[in-house]
Amino acid sequence: MKQVGFVGWRGMVGSVLMQRMREEDDFSLIEPVFFTTSQKGGDGPDVGKGVSPLQDAYDIAKLKQMNIILSCQGGDYTNEIFGKLRESGWKGYWIDAASALRMRDDAVIILDPINMPVIKQAMHEGVKNYIGGNCTVSLMLMAVGGLFDKNMVDWMSAMTYQAASGAGAQNMRELLQQMGETHRVAEDLLNDPASSILDIDREVAEKLRDKNFPAEHFGVPLAGSLIPWIDKEVEHGQSREEWKGQAETNKILGRADTPVPVDGICVRVGAMRCHSQALTIKLKQDIPLDEIEDVIAQSNDWVRVIPNEREMTTKELTPVAVNGKLDVHVGRLRKLNMGGEYLSAFTVGDQLLWGAAEPLRRMLRILIE
Ligand code: HSE
Repeated sequence: MKQVGFVGWRGMVGSVLMQRMREEDDFSLIEPVFFTTSQKGGDGPDVGKGVSPLQDAYDIAKLKQMNIILSCQGGDYTNEIFGKLRESGWKGYWIDAASALRMRDDAVIILDPINMPVIKQAMHEGVKNYIGGNCTVSLMLMAVGGLFDKNMVDWMSAMTYQAASGAGAQNMRELLQQMGETHRVAEDLLNDPASSILDIDREVAEKLRDKNFPAEHFGVPLAGSLIPWIDKEVEHGQSREEWKGQAETNKILGRADTPVPVDGICVRVGAMRCHSQALTIKLKQDIPLDEIEDVIAQSNDWVRVIPNEREMTTKELTPVAVNGKLDVHVGRLRKLNMGGEYLSAFTVGDQLLWGAAEPLRRMLRILIE
């Protein structure tokens, strides 16, 4: 059995990974070794194999004993350890949720329902680094990857509605604190049926602008508002999250040399853990809508086409409907007024599942089976 080292298994993405691995009985196929950056010698988790002491995640000699290392510890850890480990001569497989290594030539971005041929080719060529993609990109491809696979897409614009979870666990907590504060300030007026909605709105707006409003993690209010900028600036006014749209999509598809243009505006909204995206897709040809729906629906086992009707859309095409599920929903499919080659779509997926943990555990399976 392969020895697999886990780093960062206690954080939010790591916890989802552990849960999914238990559900799929992945641990029965490996010899897991749990590492820690802070609690060396403490008890590791019992994943059906008894409890073992936690190993030091900075101990290169111990890490070197692993056949595979799977890290959800974050980019700083990867930047600190990965180079040293490779320099020490370690030839094992490195699977990582962080973006640090994603764009390197010796790394593949993993999303096997979409790019299994790219992954298999890389394994054949001896590539050892397999990195999870940006959540927004992975969820977009899980939704409409069929259109890219059939080479139907001329270009695409993705306008995103990204959940608090993408910013981290503390941000999810802060969103709820902000919601609570906002409600608290309006509560008395809300309970009075005779109160004026404009008075309520004024109280809420004052609260949201109050310098003591809880916004340590987001920097600004998200509850009752939105944040049309995610991550750092790259250049020309494009955010890093927006830059990843084209760069990662084409790398995942193995077509970085002939990239499909992808761009848009990435926006943080007050959803908990599901990212949504409004897509405008310029098709290469005017293809009938029912054919497009078939291509999308048959692309993988998790995509679910939601009929473009009001009731189904408002019930099924929402973060609330998709939260905690592996299904990726796509709907609002219709041709736009611009012409038969212009397709609209709206998609929602769980940011912590296909957006983060699921591709990692599936890569592990690919390596051990
Ligand atoms: N960068 C993403 C976000 C999450 O901020 O929502 C990680 O892919």
